[in-house]
Amino acid sequence: MSYRIAPSILSADFARLGEEVRTVIEAGADLIHFDVMDNHYVPNLTMGPMFCEAIRPHSSVPIDVHLMVKPVDALAAAFAKAGAGLITFHPEASEHIDRTLGLIRDAGCKAGLVFNPATPLTYLDHVMDKLDMVLIMSVNPGFGGQKFIPEALNKIRAVRQRIDEHTARHGGEIWLEVDGGVKVDNIRAIAEAGADTFVAGSAVFGQPDYQAVIAAMRAELAQSRRSA
Ligand code: DX5
Ligand code: ZN
Repeated sequence: MSYRIAPSILSADFARLGEEVRTVIEAGADLIHFDVMDNHYVPNLTMGPMFCEAIRPHSSVPIDVHLMVKPVDALAAAFAKAGAGLITFHPEASEHIDRTLGLIRDAGCKAGLVFNPATPLTYLDHVMDKLDMVLIMSVNPGFGGQKFIPEALNKIRAVRQRIDEHTARHGGEIWLEVDGGVKVDNIRAIAEAGADTFVAGSAVFGQPDYQAVIAAMRAELAQSRRSA
């Protein structure tokens, strides 16, 4: 197991998206985080499946599609078809969570649930065997560049425990991703709470040298007391 850094292209230059994807992968990105907002589940509007299809040839790493949409199922299927590697959705936005998770895996993608800052973890209770990823939001979804909510660290610790208990008993691998306000100066504390996959939008694309930011993040992660 190792740490993964997933730059969010929400903060990239949309007029040069293919180039931005290539540059950030060369700079060391492990995943491309792709934020889908529908102006209904969240108060913002971003990219549909056509964007995913368009950047797919530019990406040598999996595309990590974060669906902030309601309803979920039709778009999940469309993103699987458009080349997503992982698809996560917010459980309260799906009428049938188990069915949606199954639909994503059946389409050949890794599947995950996303928890807003105030969404309880009880949604995990009966679906651990259907998950490849748990995504903890450390901001309210909808916008890049927001401040990390410290309570997320407690939630990450709680999810880490659930994942470790589950995998010790049943095997498999479930990634624990964090999204929102992740920077060089807090990534180590987040890793020590138990996260292994880190979304970073403005922290990466807000700087001229993506490689320097990602290297600085990895240097912090290397010092984490929790070796992932
Ligand atoms: C927010 C999105 C995030 C966003 C993170 O709703 O889900 O992925 O791009 O941006 P930063 O890293 O700037 O907080
Ligand atoms: Zn996201």
